[in-house]
Amino acid sequence: MKKTLLIVAHQPSPNTQNMVAACVDGTAAAETDDVLVSVIAPLECQPEQLLAADAVIIITTENLGYMAGATKDWFDRIYYPVLELKQGLPYALVIRAGLDGTGTQRAVASICTGLRWNLAQPVLLCKGDWQDTFSDQCFELGQYMAGGLDLGMF
Ligand SMILES: Cc1cc2nc3c(=O)[nH]c(=O)nc-3n(C[C@H](O)[C@H](O)[C@H](O)COP(=O)(O)O)c2cc1C
Repeated sequence: MKKTLLIVAHQPSPNTQNMVAACVDGTAAAETDDVLVSVIAPLECQPEQLLAADAVIIITTENLGYMAGATKDWFDRIYYPVLELKQGLPYALVIRAGLDGTGTQRAVASICTGLRWNLAQPVLLCKGDWQDTFSDQCFELGQYMAGGLDLGMF
């Protein structure tokens, strides 16, 4: 049966766009026949899309010590519609932070604990000046999530 991996990505800059593209490339490199991957901006993502997902990758920037407002808006809108229906959902989190990232990591962990989602991969915090290795790490994360979903690892 086909499974869906949803990537909810806030990508306001060339660097973050590069990270998201690398993550998507990674999912393709997993060479799964049965995992459908879709990328959507948080402001466009409705609860129904999450209800149809078997795993989610959240990619967000840190702004003003917290997740991007668009990402928070997404959590605000999906929280109660999915709360009872998506417990155990495997998720991964990628943060692009110019300086820090801890505020975003803490806040997302708290919300996802409330949702009873399962962190499937250590949080990927891409912090500080841009490094090309960030994209490599995003690629690996996408590959792991797609491959893991395909193999029923989570
Ligand atoms: C208004 C604003 C607030 C920001 N606040 C933070 C912050 O609190 N912590 C942090 O680590 N980075 C902060 N940043 C940096 C962004 O996280 C970073 O610019 C963004 O992830 C895009 O990365 P890039 O510059 O490599 O494209 C902020 C950026 C903007 C525009």
